[in-house]
Amino acid sequence: MISLRNSGIAFLILVANVQAAVSSTGFTVSLTDIDYFLPPKPVAIIAGCDQIKAAFADGPFVPFTVVKIADHCTLDVSSITAKYTEEDDVWQEGFLDALYVKGGSVCNISTTVITGTVSGELKPGPYFINAAGQVYEAWRLYSDVTGAFTESAIANGDGSYSVLPAGIMGQKLALAVPSRLYFEKTNAKPLAGVRIGIKDIYDIKGLRTSNGNRAWYWLYPPAMSTATPVQNLINAGAIIVGKMITSQFANGETATADWVDYHESFNPRGDGYQDTSSSSAGGGAGTAAYAWLDVSLGSDTGGSVRGPSQVQGLFGNRPSHDLVTLEHTMPMAPVLDTAGLIARDPLIWKAAAQAMYGSKFTASNTYPSSIKTLAWPTEADSVANKLLIDFLANVTDFLSANTTAYNVTASWETDNPTLEPLSAMMNLTYAILITKQQTALVRELFLKDYAAKYDGRTPFINPVPLARWSWGDNQTATLEEGIANKTAFMAWANSTFLTPSAESCSESLVMYVGSTGRTNYRNVYLDEPGVPLGWGNSRISIFSEAPDFVVPIGEAPYNSTITNHVEYLPVTANFMAAKGCDGMLFSLVSDMHEAGILKKALAGKSGVTGGETLYRRGL
Ligand SMILES: *[C@@H]1O[C@H](CO)[C@@H](O)[C@H](O)[C@H]1NC(C)=O
Ligand SMILES: *[C@@H]1O[C@H](CO)[C@@H](O)[C@H](O)[C@H]1NC(C)=O
Ligand SMILES: *[C@@H]1O[C@H](CO)[C@@H](O)[C@H](O)[C@H]1NC(C)=O
Ligand SMILES: *[C@@H]1O[C@H](CO)[C@@H](O)[C@H](O)[C@H]1NC(C)=O
Ligand SMILES: *[C@@H]1O[C@H](CO)[C@@H](O)[C@H](O)[C@H]1NC(C)=O
Ligand SMILES: *[C@@H]1O[C@H](CO)[C@@H](O)[C@H](O)[C@H]1NC(C)=O
Ligand SMILES: *[C@@H]1O[C@H](CO)[C@@H](O)[C@H](O)[C@H]1NC(C)=O
Ligand SMILES: *[C@@H]1O[C@H](CO)[C@@H](O)[C@H](O)[C@H]1NC(C)=O
Ligand SMILES: *[C@@H]1O[C@H](CO)[C@@H](O)[C@H](O)[C@H]1NC(C)=O
Repeated sequence: MISLRNSGIAFLILVANVQAAVSSTGFTVSLTDIDYFLPPKPVAIIAGCDQIKAAFADGPFVPFTVVKIADHCTLDVSSITAKYTEEDDVWQEGFLDALYVKGGSVCNISTTVITGTVSGELKPGPYFINAAGQVYEAWRLYSDVTGAFTESAIANGDGSYSVLPAGIMGQKLALAVPSRLYFEKTNAKPLAGVRIGIKDIYDIKGLRTSNGNRAWYWLYPPAMSTATPVQNLINAGAIIVGKMITSQFANGETATADWVDYHESFNPRGDGYQDTSSSSAGGGAGTAAYAWLDVSLGSDTGGSVRGPSQVQGLFGNRPSHDLVTLEHTMPMAPVLDTAGLIARDPLIWKAAAQAMYGSKFTASNTYPSSIKTLAWPTEADSVANKLLIDFLANVTDFLSANTTAYNVTASWETDNPTLEPLSAMMNLTYAILITKQQTALVRELFLKDYAAKYDGRTPFINPVPLARWSWGDNQTATLEEGIANKTAFMAWANSTFLTPSAESCSESLVMYVGSTGRTNYRNVYLDEPGVPLGWGNSRISIFSEAPDFVVPIGEAPYNSTITNHVEYLPVTANFMAAKGCDGMLFSLVSDMHEAGILKKALAGKSGVTGGETLYRRGL
């Protein structure tokens, strides 16, 4: 009570015409040491719930659980506890303070049962109610301990997103995820409740985009539109958790040497100090680290989905080129750019791809009976090689396939004796395509807008994009020449080893080694940045526009110089097929998963056995 001199009475007067526009941005609460976010708008009102009135003496919200039961007296609190604990990371026993029972009345339980008239729909799961009877969803807050995100996000309910107004312990952003119990997947919403992170080169209406550059983040206003791949995921019911770390302008960067504007995310595998690869660095690290995150949307121009998936032991796809349009997305090289997904669970991965690629995802369950391998090991002289050999035997058996070794560069030389070898002809192609296109489409606009706003100044640009762009400026080779070389390679690949088939979509599956558990320590000082020249297996899909999928198959041991202990890093394999056969590959992966050949990757220190990454044990 405030006491005013000369007066025994205090007044709170509402003066309508000077009232400031205060709007709620939600609430944060802690329940038995777990932090929750309550979105600002109540989802229902329960009128007349007198049973819990006394509880509001302790705080503004009372946690409770909505349960649905078939009939009178069928409520069994212990089986609900077991089921909800198993299915959901948001629900906890603290929500048993009170129950709201749908579908029947209850008898004989000790928990307080809320009764009252509900307006609004209450799905089963955990909620908070206030003294006015307003019911709020429970979203659990997690710390981005691995540094995978650049910005948190929460849907405003009108198609736009805001930054989540919450923070928790962990020295990083807090991200919020809703209870999984609220959602039921349907044909219309196949991704209902699936939690997805978005690489920070895709616009999301209401949020700023950084493209991995701090000056860019502040120069441009929040996006007015959402990029098509993201919108397709949202339309299918996905929960967008936040924006994820990208190396700058999606150019390849390496930890310690290159990441000046933003720090590279931490790869949770092994000793926790291996490079994440790039550019979809946050997507790979976050998906590998967090069981609470299901999928990440990355992009792959020259390996930016495949690299992070390989070194973190995840399912990741570079799709056929043009499988989804890329409006409101930062271009690196539109002739090469693709939107790909990273996931631990091959079935969720496939469902997300189906939603994102829409009608271009042509599923088919008839598989090639020919496998061509590129530089596949033949001696089981290491743990990784043994895994790769066993895996190939498994796939060969599964498809009853005829498996043969194939040498792309040698076949090219045989078929094109008058042309230069691929290593020479395609040496500059990738670098020319990305530098010529990105300087024209991204750099010019950025420098002009920044100079106009800041009196002719230039913005900071990381060493890698700067070196690449300057190199591109010096080259006499043209974009058209690069496209012509790419087109020639694509036509040849399409007529030789990535050939379409009416029956099985692709004549052959083409397999190459993804990763073998090799170390790439992030605390090593490297040379100054260079230009991505040269030829290799990872370039094949880039130039041929074919799908190229990474699948995790196991892990291999190494002696860590960080921990002085044996640790394990992922071993992965890549599958390619003719352009447009993405649906066939997704089906093949899910069928091999069903057959027990491919397994879900786990979150944490190991994709095979899980476990907390060493530096955050106990969290
Ligand atoms: C209520 O529960 C108690 C103890 O669990 C049990 O002994 C009793 O039979 C139950 N009564 C009804 C009506 O189910
Ligand atoms: C091969 O398949 C079997 C199941 O048939 C599975 O247990 C094993 O892990 C697979 N090995 C590899 C390396 O894929
Ligand atoms: C397997 O494929 C190779 C190369 O494509 C071919 O020469 C060989 O005849 C095939 N073998 C069988 C049994 O189909
Ligand atoms: C493929 O052929 C090239 C010659 O074009 C040769 O240098 C290379 O070693 C071969 N690769 C493999 C894996 O046999
Ligand atoms: C690729 O290009 C670089 C830079 O021009 C050159 O140094 C290198 O020798 C070339 N490699 C091949 C195989 O042509
Ligand atoms: C294109 O191919 C020609 C012929 O092999 C080669 O000399 C040239 O460097 C290539 N240019 C690019 C940009 O790929
Ligand atoms: C571009 O060419 C200029 C002039 O020849 C040279 O000084 C500079 O080092 C070159 N830059 C790059 C990135 O190759
Ligand atoms: C591959 O060749 C077939 C004809 O054999 C053609 O229909 C298809 O468009 C070609 N695809 C690519 C990616 O060039
Ligand atoms: C680790 O180092 C020990 C001692 O040098 C060696 O015996 C062992 O084979 C190494 N393990 C691995 C996985 O490299």
